Amino acid sequence: MNKHKLICTDWLDGIQVAGDDYYAVAFADPPDNIGVKYDGYDDNLPAKEYFSLLSKWVRKLVEVAGITWFSYNAKWAAEVGTIVNFLVHSTPGLEKRHMVQTYTFYQHNQHDLGNGHRPIWRLRWRDAPLYPNQIRVESERQKSGDKRADPRGKVPSDCFDFPRVTGNSRQRRSWSPTQLHEGLIERCVKLSTKEGDRVLDPFGGTGSILRVCRRINRVSTTFEISPAYSKLIANDNAMAAVDIISPSTFLRCRTCRAKMVKLHESYVSCVEGCNKVIPLQDQTSCYVLD
Ligand SMILES: C[S@@+](CC[C@H](N)C(=O)[O-])C[C@H]1O[C@@H](n2cnc3c(N)ncnc32)[C@H](O)[C@@H]1O
Repeated sequence: MNKHKLICTDWLDGIQVAGDDYYAVAFADPPDNIGVKYDGYDDNLPAKEYFSLLSKWVRKLVEVAGITWFSYNAKWAAEVGTIVNFLVHSTPGLEKRHMVQTYTFYQHNQHDLGNGHRPIWRLRWRDAPLYPNQIRVESERQKSGDKRADPRGKVPSDCFDFPRVTGNSRQRRSWSPTQLHEGLIERCVKLSTKEGDRVLDPFGGTGSILRVCRRINRVSTTFEISPAYSKLIANDNAMAAVDIISPSTFLRCRTCRAKMVKLHESYVSCVEGCNKVIPLQDQTSCYVLD
């Protein structure tokens, strides 16, 4: 199915029902566990629990995608580094590369250095292709009219100079508290895909990766745990609602994480856990766009 998909569920569960064989690229911008107020997600987990989630997320991404971009908060640099290091050393054929997004505009701190960067890991299977010619930018030599300049421009560095998306940015969708700059996403996706390739976004938020994919002719699969954000992303992109849940697929209960069983067309029940019965549409929904 060569369509953009948006699935409203925990992506670790949903990846089983998405029906995609393989993703050329995954771009992950997970919650930072710094107490941000999201709809339907607790961003204040005990550090141990968050570490365990980070580890599950990174491992699964590497399993399903040729190249994984993992953007995260500098507060967790040591933890994410430990996970990545262990994984790369125990997985032949997997390579790591560290990069940073630098902000010219950041929150001022009167007592210590302000945080002016966001780290990014790139995990790449050795045979996954890169397309550096797709991201060339004007070089300093070109700007100054130097005859030695390569007319194709230069391949940019591993420091991504894109601002934070602030309240007055034209890109801003105010329904979600955080949002990545589309220029950053576009550069990473273009470096690691060709037109028509499928891109995985496990943490939809405002749907910025879907918007970029539409613009540059890649096909996206987006997961978002919040039904409210999912509906807003779907409306923003005029996506049609569809039901892709078959009786054999299962979902996990949002309350106790036990397996949910589909009762009939429109209800699921948490038979192995807290026994809740809820309308299917409250648990998951799927939207597509040609
Ligand atoms: C940092 S935001 C992503 C922002 C997004 N990159 C953008 O530019 O709009 C993280 C999002 O992940 C969602 N989320 C958290 N845990 C999730 C999970 N396990 N599966 C799917 N979505 C999840 C949150 O609801 C939140 O909207």
